[in-house]
Amino acid sequence: MIPDLTVTPSFAAAAEVPADAEVLGVPVFSDLTTPAGAGAEIDAAYLRQRRFEGKPGQVQALMADDGSTVLALGVGERGKLSADDLRRAAATLARQAGAARHVATTLTAALDDRPVATRAVVEGAGLAAYRYGGAPNRKKENVRLEAVTVVGGDDAELSRTQIGVDVTCQARDWVNRPPRDLTPRELARLTTEAARRTGVKVDVWDEKRIEAERLGGLLGVAAGSDEPPRLIRLEHTVAKKGPTVHLVGKGITFDSGGLSLKPPASMMTMKCDMGGAAAVINAILGLAAIGSQVNVVCWVAATENMPSGTAIHPGDVLTARNGKTIEVLNTDAEGRLVLADALSLAVEENADAIIDAATLTGAQRVALGDGVAAVMGTADLVGKVIAAGTAVGEPFWELPLPKAYRKQLDSDVADLKNISSIPAAGSIIAGLFLQEFAGDGPWAHLDIAAPAYLDSEDGWLTKGATGWGTRTLIELVRSW
Ligand code: BES
Ligand code: MN
Ligand code: ZN
Repeated sequence: MIPDLTVTPSFAAAAEVPADAEVLGVPVFSDLTTPAGAGAEIDAAYLRQRRFEGKPGQVQALMADDGSTVLALGVGERGKLSADDLRRAAATLARQAGAARHVATTLTAALDDRPVATRAVVEGAGLAAYRYGGAPNRKKENVRLEAVTVVGGDDAELSRTQIGVDVTCQARDWVNRPPRDLTPRELARLTTEAARRTGVKVDVWDEKRIEAERLGGLLGVAAGSDEPPRLIRLEHTVAKKGPTVHLVGKGITFDSGGLSLKPPASMMTMKCDMGGAAAVINAILGLAAIGSQVNVVCWVAATENMPSGTAIHPGDVLTARNGKTIEVLNTDAEGRLVLADALSLAVEENADAIIDAATLTGAQRVALGDGVAAVMGTADLVGKVIAAGTAVGEPFWELPLPKAYRKQLDSDVADLKNISSIPAAGSIIAGLFLQEFAGDGPWAHLDIAAPAYLDSEDGWLTKGATGWGTRTLIELVRSW
């Protein structure tokens, strides 16, 4: 369907355990019993001897009578199982499947709600099986998981979830690609190709058009780079009358900090800085592919942030699309500058709701770590983001936008400055900055700086790019 680079297994539902599966993953509760429909006998005494306690994420290999492998997958206490527990168990199955190409699992038997269970299993196994497939000199691994049979799976939920997994992995591929390769132009090209395949309308503005449209924030950040910027607009329209949700993404394909140059260690992962863009683009692609009945428009402001003789200086003043002037005191606070323009464009089109996603602040990691993203904005939409994130296993936590902090952005020479002089609450200050460009309607800002890119794998999240936000946005819009 969508990806041409990604390497994700294909899922199928079945009533019985298929005979040709090389590995069968079976749920085991903490009392070392299995649910009805587990599909294999479990030797509890052996599991106990191996100190297997049935915790989510725990695994023990058992040899079946016919020589195939059964993996006992811990799912926790019977009756207390969450979708996250199941997602984690399925991820363990995918990681422990070894050289198997075809695995089957009866994990869905552990949870009464079949659609919820199906989704958790497909997400857990599909996302954990991901391997970066984008490097031109790297052959796709010849030993990998190709097919997963979900015994007792729900067909409709399975196909929908597979699409969510595929686009999430495509988002990961884009983020994982080296920044010299994935430039703003390349991001626009990949997006255009994928959008055409999926029937999503696409419009790309080049640097001349961006100038003609007065996108001063995007132009300012792009001024230091030899790579030209791009503004990408995508549209999935189904009902002329229905509400239109606008998604806005930060697309910094590499963030050196500009003249406010980052130290080397902080720069090493800065190809991740278009993680928000990858999430919103792949979310609209996914929504179109599942046939979502909600209108969606997507805006991505893409550029590098580089230092050079033509780069903006600390002290420069930029005029954003909505006419507000910004004193740039730190060129490393560039995400908010490009988002200012993209948010303004969404407001101009009378968006019924605006959701932006951005790897915006290092302070987000300080506040919440890399397992929880930050969300700010209007109460209704923030609540929807948190609910959608919970459903798909991407936790979000709300940070406030106190009016009293807004004066920290007051400037002597412009409508606002791009940083505060007080080194505190960096994620909130960034949110307050964006609020100036987000209009008066429902708006949510997703700061995914830390969870977008990990230095070690965790459950269904792989090392490097995670695609964080893609599935939350799909779930949010789908259940609008
Ligand atoms: N892209 C960074 C934020 C970031 C940090 C993303 C770590 C992922 C991991 C952003 O452009 C940035 O540099 N923010 C500055 C803002 C500061 C200058 C006010 C930061 O967080 O230090
Ligand atoms: Mn920066
Ligand atoms: Zn950045």
